[in-house]
Amino acid sequence: MARELILGIESSCDDTAAAVVAEDGTVLSSVIVSQAEIHNRYGGVFPELASRAHIDKVIPAIRMAIEDAGIRPADLHSIGVTRGPGLIGSLMVGVDTARGLADGWGLQVRGVNHLRGHLRSADLNERRVAYPAMILLVSGGHTFLARMESPERIEQIGSTRDDSVGEAYDKVARMLGLGYPGGPVIDRLAKTGTPRYPLPRPMLTQGFDFSFSGLKTAVRRLLEAEPDAKPEDVAASFVEACMDVLLAKAGSALRAYPSESLVVVGGVSASPQLRERAEQLCAGLGVRLSLPPLKWSTDNAAMIALASWDYVHAGADVDLAPVSTLSIER
Ligand code: KG4
Ligand code: ZN
Repeated sequence: MARELILGIESSCDDTAAAVVAEDGTVLSSVIVSQAEIHNRYGGVFPELASRAHIDKVIPAIRMAIEDAGIRPADLHSIGVTRGPGLIGSLMVGVDTARGLADGWGLQVRGVNHLRGHLRSADLNERRVAYPAMILLVSGGHTFLARMESPERIEQIGSTRDDSVGEAYDKVARMLGLGYPGGPVIDRLAKTGTPRYPLPRPMLTQGFDFSFSGLKTAVRRLLEAEPDAKPEDVAASFVEACMDVLLAKAGSALRAYPSESLVVVGGVSASPQLRERAEQLCAGLGVRLSLPPLKWSTDNAAMIALASWDYVHAGADVDLAPVSTLSIER
């Protein structure tokens, strides 16, 4: 019998992506068209330009994903498309395209929660997550901790009260004149510097909520007070402060809710510093660390297709309406 396959489509922010994924999580193809070059000069995502670029790229990305997978549309079980959270104009492009294709091809189409996609990214191509799991999701739009009993049963236990950690990386990169996205370049710079500046560790010992806006402001004040500060030392101090907070909170969460694995997902999970510190934490606690392959840490459509399979298994009647905000709990 032919394999059951889902076409995933992702356009919630500044990446246009399409992928074909089998029911067991095997990725047959994954195409990601980045818009970083377009947004770089603005130091962040310019929403209207993002929507326009999605319109240009979405069909070619889908065509390529289907070709790379070596299949025909008739081989698909269904389509899963990100419906939120994200930039509404960008989401509309993906959802509208998916709806049109599904109609033309006679397939079902499901709206997928982008955060559920990130959650499932750690199981792409290989099962890595053991349940119950503690999730640390760190992206450009979100930062939270959640308890996951199964892919369907998720409870958020804490989240950021202001900026996400990825947003803080991007804003600090902008202050240092490093362009967008800030994460990879801050990481690279931080490795060559010394964390000599005493930056705050916001809300370090207060529950499972986070706050990164004060840390970002502290970096701004530091740069005003010491214009000659070496960028690599500022970056190293900033990254260390972020890591201290993220790992301390993840550690308390694992102690409060005994878990088989810690699942670190979202764009910032591409950070080598975060991967290393999470490895140390998990080794100390005897917990498995579940990370997505590096290429699927940041936004992609393979994770959306895999999450769409969860919706199929749950028999969920999932809404297709694009929404800018959506909780991990749905
Ligand atoms: O998950 P993602 O691709 O998009 C959202 O859903 O938000 O995450 C994007 C965020 C950006 O803030 C970017 O700077 C950050 O992930 N990022 C990184 C790295 N690569 C991307 N942060 C730290 N280290 C990285 N290597
Ligand atoms: Zn994302």
